[in-house]
Amino acid sequence: MRKDEIRLGVNIDHVATLRNVRGTNYPDPLMAANIVKEAGGDGITAHLREDRRHIVDQDISRLRHQNILPLNLEMAVTDEMQRIALDILPNAICLVPEKREERTTEGGLDVRKNIAGLRSFIEPVKQKKIRVSLFIEPNKKQIDAAKNIGADIIELHTGNFCDLYEKNDKSYMEVNKTIEEAAKYAAKLGLEVHAGHGLTTRSVRYIGKIPEIKELNIGHAIVSDSIFMGLKGAIQIMKQKIKESRS
Ligand code: PXP
Repeated sequence: MRKDEIRLGVNIDHVATLRNVRGTNYPDPLMAANIVKEAGGDGITAHLREDRRHIVDQDISRLRHQNILPLNLEMAVTDEMQRIALDILPNAICLVPEKREERTTEGGLDVRKNIAGLRSFIEPVKQKKIRVSLFIEPNKKQIDAAKNIGADIIELHTGNFCDLYEKNDKSYMEVNKTIEEAAKYAAKLGLEVHAGHGLTTRSVRYIGKIPEIKELNIGHAIVSDSIFMGLKGAIQIMKQKIKESRS
């Protein structure tokens, strides 16, 4: 991979959503992970939610065991999730806020409010050489706090930007600028910068062109596009759009 290329982590949660809605054993997230690799995806991302509404523990064990691509496990900051991270040993974890009633992750983690809790969560995880990412809003104070507690990575929440963009609300340009400035600020502090949430083949060109961003994590839009063009095709198109955004 060239230095200026961005990695694409494909979030396969919604393959599991489709399976769970009928209580069947298909479609299989592991099969999806194999296709992600075949299509040129760079990593697998999955969110093991406390209510197990999509990916479940067995999926995570199988993904880790088969080791198809690097695994980025998204999780809430709870004792249960810390135990799972230390047991499964994914390549990276991404800590996210989680509310039972939400449809998807709303807002970023408030790192400043939970410095002590996050420190004690990530210390043993880092000792196991698992990279630690914090999913935060593009806000300098949150970035400072992430650096301060020893995170390796921040993932900038692009949800607000994507919502505005898809609604054709021109204020998306301001939010895009905020994300760009946050990415530059974090990279200067030595943090690796990722971004994700709500990205589509349309909106990705704005986020993809920010040179400090090294990885994008995208799920819902890819799985949605795969209904019409197959998973391999949907990933290849997303990769192509990301590549175009850099040129
Ligand atoms: N990054 C994080 C931290 C997330 O929580 C999610 C959603 O699980 C994503 C990326 C992917 O978002 P989407 O499914 O909207 O592409």
